[in-house]
Amino acid sequence: MPHAPAPAISRRDFLSTGAKLGTALLAAPYLMRAASAGGGSDSLNVALIGCGEQGRVLLNACLKIPNIRFRAVCDIWPYNRRYGERLLKKFGHDPVPYEDYRELLASTPDLDAVLIATPDFMHSEHTVAALRAGKHVYCEKLMSNTVSGARAMVAASRETGKLLQIGHQRRSNPRYLYARDRIVNGDRLLGRVTNSTAQWNRAVTEDLGFPANQGLSEAVLHKYGYGDMHEFRNWRWFKKYAGGVISDLGAHQIDIFNFMLGTYPTSVIAAGGRDYYTTHEWYDNVFAIYEFPTPSGLVRTQYQVLTTTSAGGGYHEYFMGDQGALKMSENPKYTKLYREARAPDWDAYVSQGLILRPGSGEGAPPPVKPWEKPHARLAGLSHASGAVDVRESAELSAWDMPVTLDKAIHQPHLENFFDSIRGKDTLHSPGEVAFATAVTVLKVNEAVAARKMLAFAPDDFKA
Ligand SMILES: NC(=O)c1ccc[n+]([C@@H]2O[C@H](COP(=O)([O-])OP(=O)(O)OC[C@H]3O[C@@H](n4cnc5c(N)ncnc54)[C@H](O)[C@@H]3O)[C@@H](O)[C@H]2O)c1
Repeated sequence: MPHAPAPAISRRDFLSTGAKLGTALLAAPYLMRAASAGGGSDSLNVALIGCGEQGRVLLNACLKIPNIRFRAVCDIWPYNRRYGERLLKKFGHDPVPYEDYRELLASTPDLDAVLIATPDFMHSEHTVAALRAGKHVYCEKLMSNTVSGARAMVAASRETGKLLQIGHQRRSNPRYLYARDRIVNGDRLLGRVTNSTAQWNRAVTEDLGFPANQGLSEAVLHKYGYGDMHEFRNWRWFKKYAGGVISDLGAHQIDIFNFMLGTYPTSVIAAGGRDYYTTHEWYDNVFAIYEFPTPSGLVRTQYQVLTTTSAGGGYHEYFMGDQGALKMSENPKYTKLYREARAPDWDAYVSQGLILRPGSGEGAPPPVKPWEKPHARLAGLSHASGAVDVRESAELSAWDMPVTLDKAIHQPHLENFFDSIRGKDTLHSPGEVAFATAVTVLKVNEAVAARKMLAFAPDDFKA
């Protein structure tokens, strides 16, 4: 499975070259990635299809990237289309507004790239058309709500030779890249990873409405495949338009199982249901367990997505090994690195700048809880002397990584896309890799319906 290129320093190199390297070297490529202004000197002409919530997030991120010129925006809903147009005009762009993407593609021949942030069921049609019109495409996740739709996107990218990046933005986040290359793999601070859990627990949300007199006519809704305004606004919870919570929220984090473990699962078992919301079709809570065969042994991963409670710490991914555990999240406040008491000392890693001591990183973690201390003290017997290590309370504290992201979370992924168009980088989430994620994610809904464990064959992940 392709990994983004990482600077190659093994654990042995790291330990033997020791202090000579200095703190900066190990984290440097990741810090550079985080700090890069992005954007080469070559100006790119870009259009956005879908000016809703995520379209605006992409616009705002692009506005911080030099040499990106918006030539057009497209949305079937004038209310959102106007928003996109006005936002861009405010920042000196002069985009032509379109209702129909076909007109946009036909009327803007000098476009380099199209960003797509429409509902999932339109991704395949919009992407294939843009690629065939000779444009590079950045399309939001989940790549498609069907495996066949996702496969057609990869095929179109191959046929046309145009780039296809899918919006799994964690893959360009320097913190995630560092965690994968230095902590989980590379220096293997967690030892043998045996399990992983991830979750997105979200409180009840109201169905989306729309301002009075801004509704689309029935004729327009039907022309573009929508039943009514309720479905148009709340498309993610309907089977015709999307894959439900596992695709909406789970896609981000299940992608990170594949990314961090460097392989694909062999099976999934899942349970879920539409138990709370009466106005939705899709499941509102889902639990899934995957089995990943890795070179070090089987890793069993568990994923849960709940939409009726934010209890349990929001959204994060845990990778757990016999020497430590890493809790990752797009929100750095939730990121923590734990050392098992039985693990070799991490002091060498601290002195090399690979990790930071508890309390010294971004969003300094809370102190060790009083009830954790006795356990930590017991666990803190030094390997060498058998004496109690006075630093033992650190064992249950959160260590940190020396890499931060000081820009919007989608910006590095867009920069990676634009720099790949310019030939200065390679895509972090190309169609083939995102296809495998779509297969991994969509199988969960099948497993819930089948009420049994389903197997993956290696060929399932090939587009
Ligand atoms: N990467 C992320 O972090 C992230 C976060 C949220 C959403 N997303 C993804 O972004 C996409 C959009 O989600 P959203 O929350 O912005 O939804 P949204 O409903 O707010 O926006 C969708 C927009 O697409 C427009 N649209 C619908 N059909 C269209 C068509 N045929 N042609 C042109 N425009 C059309 C709608 O009018 C609306 O403005 C989804 O694929 C979603 O999964 C990604």
